[in-house]
Amino acid sequence: MTTLTRSLADHRADFPGLRTHDGQPWHYLDSGATAQKPQAVIDATLRAMGADYATVHRGVYARSAEMTLAFEAARAKVAGFIGGAAGEIVFTRGATEAINLVAHSWGNDHLRAGDRILLSVLEHHSNIVPWQLLARRTGVEIDVCPLTQDGQIDLDAAAAMLTSAHKLVSFAHVSNVLGGVLDVRRAVALAHGVGAKILIDGCQAVPRLGVDVADLGVDFYVFSAHKLYGPTGVGALWARAEILESMAPWMGGGAMIERVTFAHTTFAPAPQRFEAGTPQIIEAIGLGAAIDYVSAIGLDQIHAHETALVRQLRGELSRMNDVRLFGPEASAGIVSFAMDGVHPHDLGTILDETNVAIRAGHHCAQPLMDHLGVAATARASFGLYNDESDIAALLAGMERTRRIFR
Ligand SMILES: Cc1ncc(COP(=O)(O)O)c(C=O)c1O
Repeated sequence: MTTLTRSLADHRADFPGLRTHDGQPWHYLDSGATAQKPQAVIDATLRAMGADYATVHRGVYARSAEMTLAFEAARAKVAGFIGGAAGEIVFTRGATEAINLVAHSWGNDHLRAGDRILLSVLEHHSNIVPWQLLARRTGVEIDVCPLTQDGQIDLDAAAAMLTSAHKLVSFAHVSNVLGGVLDVRRAVALAHGVGAKILIDGCQAVPRLGVDVADLGVDFYVFSAHKLYGPTGVGALWARAEILESMAPWMGGGAMIERVTFAHTTFAPAPQRFEAGTPQIIEAIGLGAAIDYVSAIGLDQIHAHETALVRQLRGELSRMNDVRLFGPEASAGIVSFAMDGVHPHDLGTILDETNVAIRAGHHCAQPLMDHLGVAATARASFGLYNDESDIAALLAGMERTRRIFR
């Protein structure tokens, strides 16, 4: 066991979800889908829902004022965590809603028939379907950037494809299937070089890599809290202040207005203009606690730890002649593979019998499955709490599957 692994393994005890209901260790290798929650996040959430609970922004009593401070402090934490300003953070239900927000609010006003959007083959459906819906509304065209041999977004191809008709590039920072890490700075330079804006889907990056939106130079960045050890039901859109200011609201209701009359309604400034209705108070505070938790450990340490686990697992799988490995060697926390003659769903079900949880399926990336020529893959994705014992349990489960199938 490496020193790094040992020091992070101490954190395993912080996660009550890492045991089966009858108290056995649970080898949870599905953090790419959603991460387990540390007790600190659970406690913060319970406190926010219990002793501290009140609404935000409109109460005239002290508890509501305190809750407003806590809610806005969570926004500031999100901003600090990814290098933005608090006024540039819009709380959403998650990354999916954040991308839909941009597609509606920015897309409806700024794109028209004849404009083009560049996506890539490996995008999650959340970064495909909102643009397809926008295309139906506006007549914009979608182009698809191919991948390199080892499954990374091919930025040389992107450079050749981009034209002045492209108004938006939208790429994943880290692929949820292949784990490849985008060279975001180069993608930004390419997009800006033709006058396009660039949105980065940071769902799989934010829990694994230090992200600084200002340094990266992106225009929009989105992520979901539940993959960052935080609660479900909350995520964030970061957009550069001047872009956010230029965007019209996409949902109407309470909290996003300045003044309402039947003749004319005016809207609150960003980010409130994009947060119609009572916001995710409890969830946002839970996200703030998750950010405190991972920040105390350090993203560099988490990344190094997950990288060591990926290297070890890829090394083991590459020595098996009945296993096909997908994605680049330098993958961030995610390993996709297929076993000859065993459907990934069967593998997942058999592994579950020995308390090993992987994801099997198309991972909401059906165009990528088509590109790989498979209907599904098996995916092991790591979190900060995994260690070599999880890899050993996975490998033992695969050996057991082999015996069952042959
Ligand atoms: C790369 C990527 N983008 C977008 C999403 C969508 O996230 P959510 O379902 O939390 O909105 C996911 C979730 O799996 C993802 O991995």
